Amino acid sequence: MERFVDIIHRKKLGGELSKEQIEAMIHGYCDGSIPDYQMSAMLMAICFTGLSDKELTAMTLAMRDSGSVNDLSAIKGIKVDKHSTGGVGDKTTLIIGPIAAACGIPIAKMSGRGLGFTGGTIDKLEAIPGFRTDLSTAEFFQAVQRTGICVNGQTDDLAPADKRIYALRDVTATVESIPLIAASIMSKKLAAGSDKILLDVTTGNGAFIKEYDQSLELAKKMVAIGCHAGKQTVAQLTSMDEPLGYAIGNTLEVKEAIAALHGQGPDDLMTVCYTLAAHMISLGKEIAYGQAEQEAKTAIANGSAWKTFVAMVAQQGGDISYIEHPKKFPQAHITANYRAETDGYITHMDTEGFGIAAGMLGAGRSKKDDCIDFSAGIVLHHKTNSLVKRGDVLATLHTANETLASAALQRLGYCYTICPEPAEPFALIGDFVEGPY
Ligand code: URA
Repeated sequence: MERFVDIIHRKKLGGELSKEQIEAMIHGYCDGSIPDYQMSAMLMAICFTGLSDKELTAMTLAMRDSGSVNDLSAIKGIKVDKHSTGGVGDKTTLIIGPIAAACGIPIAKMSGRGLGFTGGTIDKLEAIPGFRTDLSTAEFFQAVQRTGICVNGQTDDLAPADKRIYALRDVTATVESIPLIAASIMSKKLAAGSDKILLDVTTGNGAFIKEYDQSLELAKKMVAIGCHAGKQTVAQLTSMDEPLGYAIGNTLEVKEAIAALHGQGPDDLMTVCYTLAAHMISLGKEIAYGQAEQEAKTAIANGSAWKTFVAMVAQQGGDISYIEHPKKFPQAHITANYRAETDGYITHMDTEGFGIAAGMLGAGRSKKDDCIDFSAGIVLHHKTNSLVKRGDVLATLHTANETLASAALQRLGYCYTICPEPAEPFALIGDFVEGPY
């Protein structure tokens, strides 16, 4: 049998590995016969020399098959999954899930927690007292059948190879590799079992991939993997050059999502949600985008998306009195204002910096087992190209104590650029990518 060291060597020189070699690599890493140090060397070789389309599909499918693959066929209708590559203030799943379900698309979704500077849907939902994200498979199916939607936590046996490899990438500086990100995301999406997949590929200073061209390449790779695996997959590029909406942090974001479900969300958030929801509805109902967008807007205007959200929260054990009366949510112990240091236009917001500052306030975790303070976070008062005066409040910080607040206030000092002239406006919605399906 070929030694794994020789396979690493071949990849290091840019050679192509066979499907069998890739499958043996994923199996070997999962069963412990390939040690971390060899897998680390392989991941670094992939970072430098990449993967061909064949290799990428083989690696993704081997990672998908490392655990159980959900069979959602018992749920009637075309199931459409949506995945965001991560961002700051991104609460879109809480809004578009109920919109799409209200329009008749079954939403059987598995979501993740926040890690690093980006937030996670499961943490946001758990900010609603009582909300359960650990439903059994039977409960998950029942929930989707009853209300048309369930958003559950990822089970441990969903693409376990990705969990192990991601943990290794995190400590070996191999996270920012387009093929590795594509394989990681698509292995989980394919294992989650929906019929069609919508990818929201974020780009800009608050995204995993910051350069537009590279984000587009990631989108194309993921769409190609999905299509090779027999699932219609499309991708929408969305800017993360400033946080999405005005709220960052779990409870604060739930409150903003509630406003959006009543049609009162900030313009950027509503635009992104209508765009994504329209793509989901268009995929699920096989209708034109324009008609799907109209349906999405109607679901907000006639209250059906809100009713679906309430039904989902109730069904998953959440106390609906909180979402019906958002003032009931526990407030952070202290608030502190960050003020403009000069007059002018906000020309740049360091989105990743806001995510880091929110984490410092207690809204995120830097290690998997860290506890989250649901009430912690940041409320922005101004965004890019606002004209502000020295002393204006740009952001209000919510946290548990003065020490955390002063550290985060200092961090926010690096997040704003204020200039005498406004910046060129950036496009919120970028390319739409669909495969030759
Ligand atoms: N999200 C994932 O699930 N995997 C990556 O590699 C990066 C972002």
